[in-house]
Amino acid sequence: MKGRILSILKAENGIVSGEVISSALDISRVSVWKHIRKLQESGYDIRSTPTGYQIMSHSDLLFPWEFTGREGKIHYYAEVSSTMDIARELARKGSPHFTVVISGIQTKGRGRLKRAWLSDKGGIYFTIILRPQIPVLLSSKTNFMASVVLVKTLREMFGIEAMVKWPNDILVSGRKVSGMLSEMEAEADMLSFINIGIGINANNDPSSRAPLAISLKQILKRDVSRKEILTRYLDALERRINAGDYDRVIPEWKYYTCTINKEVKIVTTNGIFSGLAIDVDENGSLILKQDDGAVKSVSFGDCFHS
Ligand code: BTN
Repeated sequence: MKGRILSILKAENGIVSGEVISSALDISRVSVWKHIRKLQESGYDIRSTPTGYQIMSHSDLLFPWEFTGREGKIHYYAEVSSTMDIARELARKGSPHFTVVISGIQTKGRGRLKRAWLSDKGGIYFTIILRPQIPVLLSSKTNFMASVVLVKTLREMFGIEAMVKWPNDILVSGRKVSGMLSEMEAEADMLSFINIGIGINANNDPSSRAPLAISLKQILKRDVSRKEILTRYLDALERRINAGDYDRVIPEWKYYTCTINKEVKIVTTNGIFSGLAIDVDENGSLILKQDDGAVKSVSFGDCFHS
């Protein structure tokens, strides 16, 4: 109901009477008033006047009702420790495919390899619960799919030259705009769920504490709509995941990567390897030509371009 009230207010460039809303939605005027009060409390800038209600500015809020058609599968929080924690709990309790956990800020945002992820107001922090019917061996391709779809979404929306750094970071001019983390559980050799957590530097300012990071707002010198980014990304990713088509993912990822042909240093839990990144194989492992000429395949780690 809140989403429908907002649509009516947003469509009208002025005051809409309580009566118009109540008859359009077939609810009482008291009920309209109660919903409006809840929306105001949630942060919407709605003016109540003696003749009706007017939405004053288009706030960029990420409540479930902002995502028409997905309301039932969106869990929004103003603040959580990490969306990964909430999503894991929901997935273990059986939440359906494409449930999305979004938070305004995170107090313990996690990055890969046990790093922290800065999660100030203005960024986009979310975890998607996916349940593709695939063997565990294919699971890493889901991450590559998620990063290909994100790089394409950002390019299409903003005309920026976003690139993917192995394995799943999104960079613009060498600075990090987005990072991705995934956790999965399996039964026998089939995936039960894979949770993909994504942080996008949208309207926040990460660069003061992380000099190699940058936000879309800093690149474009204007605010961006977090809601529009998330809507377009979720729609595109859902189509892509449901279509399967895992064979096409790595070649597509390679088209958008800035890692191949770079001198890199890969930090893994088993040590640090450096050399020339010569390829990415069909499973997403990075093929490295080490300084002594030996060729090594690395399947997990953090990559630094030199
Ligand atoms: C990385 O680049 O190291 C991965 C960063 C992943 C950050 C996102 S923000 C939403 C989700 N919740 C977390 O705690 N981490 C991921």
